[in-house]
Amino acid sequence: MNVMLQTIVIWAMGLSLMAPVSAAETATEQPASLADHMSAIKSSLRAIKRMADGGQISDDAVAIAQKARQAAVAARELPPKNIVMLPEAERDKQIQAYQAAIDVMVAELATLETLAGSKDAAKVLAQLAKLSDVEKDGHQRFRQ
Ligand code: HEM
Repeated sequence: MNVMLQTIVIWAMGLSLMAPVSAAETATEQPASLADHMSAIKSSLRAIKRMADGGQISDDAVAIAQKARQAAVAARELPPKNIVMLPEAERDKQIQAYQAAIDVMVAELATLETLAGSKDAAKVLAQLAKLSDVEKDGHQRFRQ
């Protein structure tokens, strides 16, 4: 290899090191899982409970409740693995039951959103208690 060619090769290697790494090569981020959405719902509800316990519902509460509702809507499309693994006939029935239970949660979260807007701490606490029952029921029926 002559000196000229060697220079070009070294220069090209340098350039390739500087080239931006493609998205595929750095794709370590996973899409949010069912557990991620559930955790997001839990922390949103905890934040609202802290406010209601202190008798001070801040302006952020509506957006926080809305985030919880959006996470619940996303969870609807991610039935748990124990259901997905079932034989087909049983699976469809279970997915429908799972989605119906999630729909109840979504509706109760929408009510929470409205109550958060009214800043009525007692009503918000009562709604959180209702959501706690929804959680217990959902976990009893669908969480392994
Ligand atoms: C206010 C209502 C709810 C709250 C606060 C809540 C919260 C949670 C939390 C914190 C987890 C654990 C997540 C983790 O492992 O990091 C979880 C898991 C789970 N929840 Fe809920 N949940 C609620 C309602 C429901 C409902 C209604 C259903 C079913 C219709 C449900 C089904 C599940 C399932 C299947 C898992 C296991 C997910 C997995 O590990 O892949 N949850 N939930």
